[in-house]
Amino acid sequence: MSPFPTVSAIEWRDDTLWLLDQRLLPLQEVWLDHADVHAVVNSIRDMVVRGAPAIGITAAYGVVIAARARLAENPQHWQQLLAADFEALAASRPTAVNLFWALDQMKVALEKLDRNQDPVAQLLAEAIRIHESDLAANHTMGHLGANLIRHYGMPAKGVITHCNTGSLATGGYGTALGVIRSAWKAGLIEQVYADETRPWWQGARLTAWELLKDGIPVILTADSVAATLMQQGKVSWVIVGADRITANGDVANKIGTYSLAVLARHHGVRFMVVAPTTTFDPSLAHGSAIPIEERGPEEVVSVKGVRVAPEGVAVYNPVFDVTPAELIDAIVTEKGVVEHPNRDGITALLAQASIH
Ligand code: MRU
Repeated sequence: MSPFPTVSAIEWRDDTLWLLDQRLLPLQEVWLDHADVHAVVNSIRDMVVRGAPAIGITAAYGVVIAARARLAENPQHWQQLLAADFEALAASRPTAVNLFWALDQMKVALEKLDRNQDPVAQLLAEAIRIHESDLAANHTMGHLGANLIRHYGMPAKGVITHCNTGSLATGGYGTALGVIRSAWKAGLIEQVYADETRPWWQGARLTAWELLKDGIPVILTADSVAATLMQQGKVSWVIVGADRITANGDVANKIGTYSLAVLARHHGVRFMVVAPTTTFDPSLAHGSAIPIEERGPEEVVSVKGVRVAPEGVAVYNPVFDVTPAELIDAIVTEKGVVEHPNRDGITALLAQASIH
């Protein structure tokens, strides 16, 4: 199916969940197994695994691990006990709505359990379905996004991407990086510029690593270089992922996305968001209602544990921002493309998505 044997970061093997520790990449490739649900919660919170779809898939497997333990603990009331595990998983990170979507899917599976079959096996089947359907959605989005690029043409065959939206952040292949993979294969892109993505370096550590593995030409830049690249006419598209998209088409994504959208509009560069329909939250009217995660100051004042800022300095570290819908040229999903997103366009897309 894929032109690239892309890395996987989430695996169910030997009856447990294994995650490739993204905190150590690209210098070390270490896999961690998960003995209980608390380990899964810690891995999401501490960013062993990150990226909206990957967090959701991990939480689904976390429910399987929790259910197995609760069943052994109390075969009569295990489902009631499981409620605390759902809460712990839901509290692991606040912004990516895929986490809450996946937990809701697992709740539905729980309600529909066949009493004559092994409940853990049924929950595992649902987690695997969530995992595999994300991978399939990414391939569809790759195709649709590449077609969109072809449709508008590429005056300059360069794109900027931000954060990491690849195999590491999803069930495989990637959202924005999936479009970049498909467009590069189709000869539409010649150069990818990966923002380093301060403060956690997802672009420098993860996107650069994935693209180099695929042999896709990547140039790593400091985040602040984007304006210069656009001024020099080197890029035609900014292509990013999303953590939550509201009913009107506003998009929460990695901090720095909003500034790229403002720059793109100023320079006449197109701005594409790529996200599966599991990233939509139509219960929120506007992006201002999205909970934005703030992480600790250590991510900003130090690099790999080495302090670079003076002791005692105050730090503000919001790790997502909200790009208003009017700055977005297109949102690419597995159910279709919404150009110039607004409330009507998003409503129509989601209505069509729920039919299929
Ligand atoms: O803090 P992270 O690394 O989990 O943030 C990830 C992003 O912001 C991604 O762009 C988004 O989740 C889309 S991943 C397909």
